Amino acid sequence: MEPVTRHPLIAGNWKMHGSQAFAESLSGAIAQSLKKPRAEIALIPPFPYLTAVAAAIRAHQAPIDLGAQDVSAHAEGAHTGEVSGAMLSDCGCRFVLVGHSERRQDHGETSAQVAQKFLAAQQAGLIPIVCVGETLAERDAGQTDKVVLSQLEAVLEVAGVEAFEHAVVAYEPVWAIGTGKTATPAQAQAVHASIRARIGANSDTIAGQVRVIYGGSVKPDNALEILSCDDIDGGLIGGASLSAESFVEICQAVG
Ligand code: 13P
Repeated sequence: MEPVTRHPLIAGNWKMHGSQAFAESLSGAIAQSLKKPRAEIALIPPFPYLTAVAAAIRAHQAPIDLGAQDVSAHAEGAHTGEVSGAMLSDCGCRFVLVGHSERRQDHGETSAQVAQKFLAAQQAGLIPIVCVGETLAERDAGQTDKVVLSQLEAVLEVAGVEAFEHAVVAYEPVWAIGTGKTATPAQAQAVHASIRARIGANSDTIAGQVRVIYGGSVKPDNALEILSCDDIDGGLIGGASLSAESFVEICQAVG
């Protein structure tokens, strides 16, 4: 095995929470506490607060990146309500989520559409964080790997394995999101290893470099055991990223 050089990434996905004042004070408090983080840190606020969060990060000169929760598959044009990758770059984003399970569930996004968003993100110079994960019914039916790998496959087919040099995969079991139920470290590690092995079937080198992060009820008290698994390269944090104290604690759990 090559030495692992994957720098951990901890990203806080605020989902549809907060207000301008909340976004400013939360990002300010996080930026204040994470002047020298051990991991790469990203904050992923709702679209209207991107520039306020960018300003707070700048004001504290904190090494924190900005991300968005979704991106249009289109570059520009008559697509009311959508936001392009170029606009997100323009607002200071480095990362963007594609295929979060809440987008797949609430908006019927298919893996083929997610793959198009992945391409659009990269074309705009953003790093897509492509989210994959199974429901509880799929896990109970023994379909976890099949579901997760087919979601990944859709992106590999369209973008090619080389695209994963500039992408992150997030494994987020749907049954663990916002439920307080976390995958055990062994369950999560097993899926992360399958994801890496699938990428490795196309390129060993890229499989060794790509960051595969875990999301689903990560909290300060379970972060260490999850984040120390071999194939887990960081976390995508929902609820616990809405408190500076708990988010910072999770960021500091990375060794
Ligand atoms: P929770 O941490 O609230 O379970 O959310 C996980 C998630 O969906 C992050 O994108």
